[in-house]
Amino acid sequence: MCPPEHFTVDYAINPWMDTSVPVDSGLALKQWAILRDTLTDLGHAVHVIDAKPELPDMVYAANGAFSVDGIVYGARFRYPQRAGEAAEHRKFYETATKWPATQGQSVNEGEGDFAYLPAAYGGMILAGHGFRTEPAAHLEAQEILGRPVISLQLVDPAFYHLDTALAALDDRHITYYPEAFSEASQRVLRQLFPDAVIADRVDAEAFGLNLVSDGRHVILNTEARAMGEKVRAHGYEPVHVELGELKRGGGSVKCVVAELRQ
Ligand code: ARG
Repeated sequence: MCPPEHFTVDYAINPWMDTSVPVDSGLALKQWAILRDTLTDLGHAVHVIDAKPELPDMVYAANGAFSVDGIVYGARFRYPQRAGEAAEHRKFYETATKWPATQGQSVNEGEGDFAYLPAAYGGMILAGHGFRTEPAAHLEAQEILGRPVISLQLVDPAFYHLDTALAALDDRHITYYPEAFSEASQRVLRQLFPDAVIADRVDAEAFGLNLVSDGRHVILNTEARAMGEKVRAHGYEPVHVELGELKRGGGSVKCVVAELRQ
């Protein structure tokens, strides 16, 4: 995670960002700290990387890389405003985890557009394209990580990253908002995950799919109450945290947590 010490909305690179409404950075920091404490209280180890003043979106740490089996596929950001974040994340992996890290040649925004299901079909990566990550990055990720990658096309600009439209609930199960995907990609998802928890537009707009799950606890923002009840009905325990200030940048729980997969 990376604290929102320098978080602002001074440019708009997704439909949620409105540069005319000032960000309350003190509130953003408080909300972020509660999320970090929630994760540690649940028994998870949280590493924190330093925020850089010139990189206001760095709080969305999930976009910096995607790791599977202790191998790191580093991001190459779509927009110049975020380009500098990639090297900060690579530095973290080099020093803290010592996992081999390769920066992508193709544009890819890390876990923003990649999800991993270790127990689905022996270990499967789901990857989004359409707004940020290039399809070529999906091939690159497969070659670097050695796991099958299923490409899914995102079609709604409000859900510009895979992690705004789909999430892993545990090692084998997903939840997603079908209409965020092309018809063909919806068919692919139905075939591979017939038992998925289906979310609706209200859930997606509340960033209810932008969740982090440890397989038992599903951490999601307070606005996504209905989504919380949906996952509860499927045997998970929803844990809500207030993260409204970070929604101004177009992200929520998942966007601010990069998961380390050994
Ligand atoms: N303002 C950031 C951007 O548009 C938000 C990134 C949200 N992160 C995510 N994983 N969806 O790039």
